[in-house]
Amino acid sequence: MNIIKYKESIFEKYISNSEIIDRCQIIGEELNDKYLKEEVVLLGLLDGCLPFMKDLSKFLKFNFKPCFVKISSYKGFESGDIKLESSLNESDIYNKNVIVIDDIIDTGKTICYIRSYLENLQAKKIKIASLLVKDSSLKLTDWFGFKIDDEFVIGYGMDLDNQFRDLKHIYIKKV
Ligand code: IMP
Ligand code: MG
Repeated sequence: MNIIKYKESIFEKYISNSEIIDRCQIIGEELNDKYLKEEVVLLGLLDGCLPFMKDLSKFLKFNFKPCFVKISSYKGFESGDIKLESSLNESDIYNKNVIVIDDIIDTGKTICYIRSYLENLQAKKIKIASLLVKDSSLKLTDWFGFKIDDEFVIGYGMDLDNQFRDLKHIYIKKV
């Protein structure tokens, strides 16, 4: 499937699943070099993190504790107020190495919010791994899969109106 039509919009295939898996392997190897002897919390931002966190974690050779927090901000194509819909226990984060796993960093509001939330819980170190990042937010992430054009994307965890998260590939809005 190369084209997806939804309401007035048209999305084109942009990044294939096999390209994503290749990047997961490369990022996984970089994380292995850094964390082989450390205890790590992988903190996934739901719902979008799930495919990336699942595929990335297959390549990890260190022990980690998976943790999740549900956070949302988007309505349709627009970024809005951040809503934290679940919380973490202080003991999950206190004095831990935390790697935040996200699907995409767009404006960076979500990542900045999570960073200060984790600082309040006194994480030892906070690092960010995002599958996608837009140019303007590059400095906010420590690892990323792909730098993408400034357009809306769907698939591989990313939604529009809570649909399309299940697509294997990533699609970008053309119209
Ligand atoms: P930010 O706060 O603007 O960086 O965006 C945060 C969250 O909004 C991301 O983690 C995604 O879950 C969602 N988001 C941002 N851009 C897109 C997009 O192009 N497609 C789908 N979801 C997006
Ligand atoms: Mg997200």
